[in-house]
Amino acid sequence: MSALLSYLPFKVSSSHVFVTEQPYLAVLLLALGSLSLAKFLVKTLGVLAQTFILPGKNLKKYGAGKGTWAVVTGASEGIGREFALQLAAKGFNVLVAARNATSLKELTTEIESTSKVQTKALAIDFSKLNDPVQWARFQSEVENLDIGVLINNVGRSHSYPINFVETPDEEIDNILQININATVKVTKAIVPGMVQRKRGLVIGSGSFSGISVVSPMLATYAGTKSFLSSFLAALAEEVKGKGVDVETLNTYFVVSNMSKIRKSSMMIPTPKAYVRSVLSKVGQPCGALYTGRMHVVTPYWSHALLDYLMNLIGWKQVFASYTHGLHKSIQKRYLKKQERLAKQQ
Ligand SMILES: NC(=O)c1ccc[n+]([C@@H]2O[C@H](COP(=O)([O-])OP(=O)(O)OC[C@H]3O[C@@H](n4cnc5c(N)ncnc54)[C@H](OP(=O)(O)O)[C@@H]3O)[C@@H](O)[C@H]2O)c1
Repeated sequence: MSALLSYLPFKVSSSHVFVTEQPYLAVLLLALGSLSLAKFLVKTLGVLAQTFILPGKNLKKYGAGKGTWAVVTGASEGIGREFALQLAAKGFNVLVAARNATSLKELTTEIESTSKVQTKALAIDFSKLNDPVQWARFQSEVENLDIGVLINNVGRSHSYPINFVETPDEEIDNILQININATVKVTKAIVPGMVQRKRGLVIGSGSFSGISVVSPMLATYAGTKSFLSSFLAALAEEVKGKGVDVETLNTYFVVSNMSKIRKSSMMIPTPKAYVRSVLSKVGQPCGALYTGRMHVVTPYWSHALLDYLMNLIGWKQVFASYTHGLHKSIQKRYLKKQERLAKQQ
């Protein structure tokens, strides 16, 4: 008992008095403390095990190596391109879609020269899917395919961090069309077939900005990413038990044109390393475990630890203020650079 008492937050002599005068209260406090510690240890071990040890679902479950297709939106560059390459290497035929036809052609040529799978390239602008002609083009490409995987990757962010009231209407509309409208339409075109075949995986490219933190000066973009995780979580529950798995990626930063980060680091992986972690951890929430967010996963190891830690600390206002400050300084640097470039012309 005396060893246990030494953990109490007061001196042993006073704890002696406390214990003799309030023995039940002392035991209750000790039990509560032990319970909190045990809960913390179990949670931490769970996150570490999922992030570093446990494998994700085998992609054969979704038809890898069986002539099944993976559809990747926004696949001409960055994370989407890497999804296409790695899914092809795992034995999926791939349909890649984005605007840049030349980049898509280069990608499909690279895939066909390294993997024994079929490819399709669809040059399309996802901000224009309300146009019946564009929508019909997309539908006709996917309607007769046996699609096992859908990577809802296409996304657009703001050109630079900017207050909502100053954001050009065109930019807001474009972000909403691509990140929400296109994602919902593409999902609606593909998931019914998955349900019918009782086999499928849908992954959405979410972001810390819409899931883990409040993101001032990226309001519209962050809002679309919150929508994505909420939309896909609801869908995941609807199709649960029908052979279709759905998850939203909670991504911090990855090297890409969108992030404008060129050099990888411990916190910022290359698309290759990032996608490798996503595909090896399907179905494992990793850093998102115990955060209370359903069907959200944070598979990349450093993002997982950050997500877990931020959730543990839970002081949302501090993170929001930090993010606001960061965005203000990025905006300042961006505008200065634009000024410099304008002077040079
Ligand atoms: N990079 C990060 O740090 C980060 C962090 C969190 C979440 N994410 C999310 O991850 C996803 C991929 O981002 P990324 O960093 O790989 O971006 P990226 O390198 O800028 O690539 C974006 C892709 O989307 C395509 N695209 C953009 N607008 C399009 C449109 N209107 N129609 C058709 N395709 C379009 C682009 O190709 P075309 O130009 O050829 O059309 C490109 O293939 C996004 O949803 C993003 O929000 C990224």
